[in-house]
Amino acid sequence: MALITLRQLLDHAAEHGYGMPAFNITNLETLQAVMIAADRTGSPVLVQASRSARSYVDDVFLKHMFQAAIERYPHIPVCVHLDHGNELSTCLSAMENGFSSVMMDGSLMADAKTPSDFDYNVEVTASVVEQAHARGVSVEGEIGVLGSLETGEGEKEDGHGFEGKLEKKQLLTDPAEAEAFVRATGVDALAVAVGTSHGAYKFSRRPDGDILAMEVIEAIHARLPATHLVMHGASTVPQDLQDLINAHGGEIPGTFGVPLEEVERGIRHGVRKVNIDTDIRMAMTGSIRKFLDENRSSFDLRAILKPGRERTIALCLERFERFGAAGMASRIRPSTLHAMADRYAAGLFNTKVA
Ligand code: G3H
Ligand code: 13P
Ligand code: ZN
Repeated sequence: MALITLRQLLDHAAEHGYGMPAFNITNLETLQAVMIAADRTGSPVLVQASRSARSYVDDVFLKHMFQAAIERYPHIPVCVHLDHGNELSTCLSAMENGFSSVMMDGSLMADAKTPSDFDYNVEVTASVVEQAHARGVSVEGEIGVLGSLETGEGEKEDGHGFEGKLEKKQLLTDPAEAEAFVRATGVDALAVAVGTSHGAYKFSRRPDGDILAMEVIEAIHARLPATHLVMHGASTVPQDLQDLINAHGGEIPGTFGVPLEEVERGIRHGVRKVNIDTDIRMAMTGSIRKFLDENRSSFDLRAILKPGRERTIALCLERFERFGAAGMASRIRPSTLHAMADRYAAGLFNTKVA
């Protein structure tokens, strides 16, 4: 059984210079696709569930799905992470349900809509760190608010993100603030705002430095070389999947995601966790649309979902390979949560400075 923590996984990624795709899963087929791709490439796995995924699947089902993935692929280390926890109680219930890592997103208030201030963010994140580390569980924090530098808006298509418009300054993480945040909270990984946003509608053109501020990542990494950085909203929104969806009744207006080369640039500058949800949704739904379009009398649910699972496997395979995670599974010696808790207690990972 190889449940591992985010801390152990990203420490390994940093030591060996690779990035981990963090795949959002929503159901059995998406989890299977990630596991099959990891098995074929010999990659470790980082899977995450949002609050809405948890309520859609149900925590008990989710816990057993993750355990099934670990039992089915015992040679693959699997980190199970909560995406965008909004308050301490959400993070605690994830820990109680088998998550080995949690994100406390204190960049927004608990309503997941209202931007917070620095002091609130530090306080809520530090309280999660204290509870999590005592259990050996890792914590990702966020400083800076995710949103588009083109429009000043947060993408709310998936129900997460601020309302209204923000100044460019608020949409870009301040490196000095990032450093103070890590020192005050002791987080294991740090999500930063550089102009990416959730969902398919990230950029109206192929992004350049004006709308995707990769140099901010470089500046943060220069100040915090030992901190694992996280890119949210890192789907590429592939043109072929937009075309697939639109060819079969979809109506996705032309849009651009984060080019893989920019993610690779991030990985060279401390990005270790790369969040991907939208690309999986597009691979699944585009393939489902195509199948239903071409097989109008079919109602065999397995036949309908299978092409989506196949397309998702191909997508995950490419990400594992491009980010350098392929072949790394067998090079990790999983530590238990107990062992991690002992290490936190001994101050071995201590980035927190009073
Ligand atoms: O947080 C962003 C992810 O894409 C999760 O979206 O809340 O609709 O599952 P979701
Ligand atoms: P995408 O919408 O770009 O896939 O981002 C997902 C994400 O950041 C989940 O936290
Ligand atoms: Zn996110």
